[in-house]
Amino acid sequence: MSGGCPYFEKKHLYSKLHLNEEEADDSQKGINKASKGGIIYGDYLQLDKVVTAQVLQSELKGNKIHDEHLFIVTHQGELIFKMVMVHQVRDERNMLKVNTRIHRIVVIFRLLVDQFSVLETMTALDFYDFREYLSPASGFQSLQFRLLENKIGVPDNLRVPYNRRHYRDNFKGHESEMLLSSEKEPCLLKLVEKWLERTPGLEGDGFNFWKKLEANIFEGLCLEKKKIKMPDTEEKEEMMEELTKQKELFTSLFDIKRHEHLLSKGERRISYKALQGALMIYFYREEPRFQVPFQLLSNLMDIDTLMTKWRYNHVCMVHRMIGSKAGTGGSSGYHYLRSTVSDRYKVFVDLFNLATFLIPRHWMPKLDPNEHTFLFTAEYCDSSYCSSEDSD
Ligand code: HEM
Repeated sequence: MSGGCPYFEKKHLYSKLHLNEEEADDSQKGINKASKGGIIYGDYLQLDKVVTAQVLQSELKGNKIHDEHLFIVTHQGELIFKMVMVHQVRDERNMLKVNTRIHRIVVIFRLLVDQFSVLETMTALDFYDFREYLSPASGFQSLQFRLLENKIGVPDNLRVPYNRRHYRDNFKGHESEMLLSSEKEPCLLKLVEKWLERTPGLEGDGFNFWKKLEANIFEGLCLEKKKIKMPDTEEKEEMMEELTKQKELFTSLFDIKRHEHLLSKGERRISYKALQGALMIYFYREEPRFQVPFQLLSNLMDIDTLMTKWRYNHVCMVHRMIGSKAGTGGSSGYHYLRSTVSDRYKVFVDLFNLATFLIPRHWMPKLDPNEHTFLFTAEYCDSSYCSSEDSD
């Protein structure tokens, strides 16, 4: 058996490998450290509590339904809500750390959104088999979900009422107090707003971004108008109409009264100064000083997007599971949930709207590295960007 058989030809090599058994045994080297005492895996994670925390109501009622286990474990995604809340951001001195934490929240949210696909493997009929045993338990009673919304900055006055009642009416005692104080604490939106207001370059006696931007935009629009030289055709009319729309848009951007009006309607959520800071970061995102702030703004938009996707995935699943029946918690079910998939619940709505105000690059006020050192040497002259060890 020679000539052509790969095993036979390389036999000497294989036997060498077998001889080298000591090497193969490397995988078995080591000492079981747990035998020497200290905390072991199960105790550390308190698994006795976690893995026994799925009590099937259907089983208690003598009619065990297999899928109820999956239903409970998926709801224990409450642990993920908790994980998001642990990642509070309090100190903005270390922007890299803030950004890393916010990005982690984004990744955790993705898990929550994807989780629904597992539960969707259950059919409506399977769910029907044990649904009656759950009542009146409902996700609406989730304290953590409400705390999470408040921490991010869902405004109380924009919430959809629940059977015409305030959402907090569903909570009592300590839980209600926790919610009330979470409404009063500065939320992520407010922290971001204060930070944006301090964007370097906004100072009236410095770079004065806003004034320069206003001048450049209206000059740019005037030049565009002059360029339209063709005779009176339909095309010219369309171009002029478009220019008028642009002019109206930018006139409203530079009108503080209009901003206050939109704020009162909930269509804008951050102060006028903060909006200016956000737009500045957006425009100069390629400048070293603004790269991390820009990433932060993108991550904040991701949080909003994923929250909306969570609401959307949830309502689609609810529709599929219970049609338009009322919820176990007592709401109209699908119809109530559908009304929450709305911009009312979007917190960083102003950041999304920044794209409305995009302008050609050459309209942006020019930065001069000699004159505007704040943008180029931030690490050395501004303590707000220094790293901090205790920046939790
Ligand atoms: C078969 C699966 C599910 C069904 C049929 C369902 C049904 C409902 C319904 C009808 C409501 C409206 C309140 C009510 O009247 O009860 C609701 C709210 C809620 N559910 Fe679910 N749900 C399911 C899965 C989940 C999962 C897996 C989670 C989280 C891990 C969850 C979390 C929530 C939360 C937080 C609310 C409050 C939402 C709000 O008010 O904006 N649900 N659910």
